Amino acid sequence: MFLPTMDECFLHLWNSPEATEQAGFELAACVQPGDLIGLVGQLGAGKTLFVRGIARGLDVPPEIRVTSPTFTLVNEYRGGRIPLYHADLYRIESAVELDEIGLDELCRSGDGVVCVEWHDRFPVLGGNVVEVDIQVTGDCDRKVFVRSAEQRGRELAMAWSARLALK
Ligand SMILES: Nc1ncnc2c1ncn2[C@@H]1O[C@H](COP(=O)(O)OP(=O)(O)OP(=O)(O)O)[C@@H](O)[C@H]1O
Ligand SMILES: [Mg+2]
Repeated sequence: MFLPTMDECFLHLWNSPEATEQAGFELAACVQPGDLIGLVGQLGAGKTLFVRGIARGLDVPPEIRVTSPTFTLVNEYRGGRIPLYHADLYRIESAVELDEIGLDELCRSGDGVVCVEWHDRFPVLGGNVVEVDIQVTGDCDRKVFVRSAEQRGRELAMAWSARLALK
């Protein structure tokens, strides 16, 4: 379920791993190349599971595994409707290192959808950022704040939230 709040932030409540994956699946129906999904949330919040849902929703072949790119830094999943890039900034120490992995160019190229775990560590990336802030409120309960400072990002947040509400 979701509730719109006063500051144009959407609140989602996901109460199981399946609900989190399903939320990603539904987001995939709304994304366009160039969209950047900035994932925020503590270790084990469900960021990777959420991206797995997006991959499935984009029809990335099921044999392609979606795992935390903690060491590879950026994973690329092809074979779906839109290329999906999956980055993890947890181990990035500096803006120089961030530059080296070329994520900013990737975001600006508009080639595919980019999902970034630990986006709040370097919130300087270009693109239409929708921030998905997953807060752990119980073993399986997640309170999720969805917001964007950009027009396209807000449209995406709204379309996705409305879609989830209909489920
Ligand atoms: N509602 C929920 N949503 C997502 N994951 C949940 C939920 N409830 C329990 N879990 C469990 O929490 C874990 C989430 O793992 P996941 O790898 O997706 O987290 P993460 O945020 O990517 O962590 P990291 O920062 O280490 O990469 C899984 O083991 C999953 O089963
Ligand atoms: Mg992860």
